[in-house]
Amino acid sequence: MLNIQLTVNGELHTILIDPAETLLHVLREKLGLTGTKEGCGEGDCGACTILVNGKSVNSCIYPAIQADGCEILTVEGVEKNPKLARIQQAFVDHGAVQCGFCSPGMIMATCALLDENPTPTDEEIRRGLSGNLCRCTGYQAMVDAVKSLI
Ligand code: FES
Ligand code: FES
Repeated sequence: MLNIQLTVNGELHTILIDPAETLLHVLREKLGLTGTKEGCGEGDCGACTILVNGKSVNSCIYPAIQADGCEILTVEGVEKNPKLARIQQAFVDHGAVQCGFCSPGMIMATCALLDENPTPTDEEIRRGLSGNLCRCTGYQAMVDAVKSLI
């Protein structure tokens, strides 16, 4: 076991972890941040997407130890982060949320996409969200939501 430090949504935490623990497990089970979902647990579905130092990662396969000293943004950051709040509202307004299981990951992936490319084309939006699977909506509502933010 060893201690790591993470700044999560602006708050510094010192956390005792097992070296084999994933960042998703630390967020959900040790910090109680259950907004980040576990779907496949294998890096394929994007439900667990968060930002580590501004880059989107699949937290289910990201070793927590590798995040030591990093800034983490999760969907719970929506409370303090106006940009995330705008993205969330756009998803609601465009009917891009049904069961909602994929939504936290989609919102975080959108955040990373727009940080990297504030004026993406439809094709770039689809590519930017291609690592995030949704079994409910089809993807057009999400593309429309992201376009409304450009
Ligand atoms: S739960 Fe992480 S990619 Fe599916
Ligand atoms: S809204 Fe249900 S999985 Fe996307």
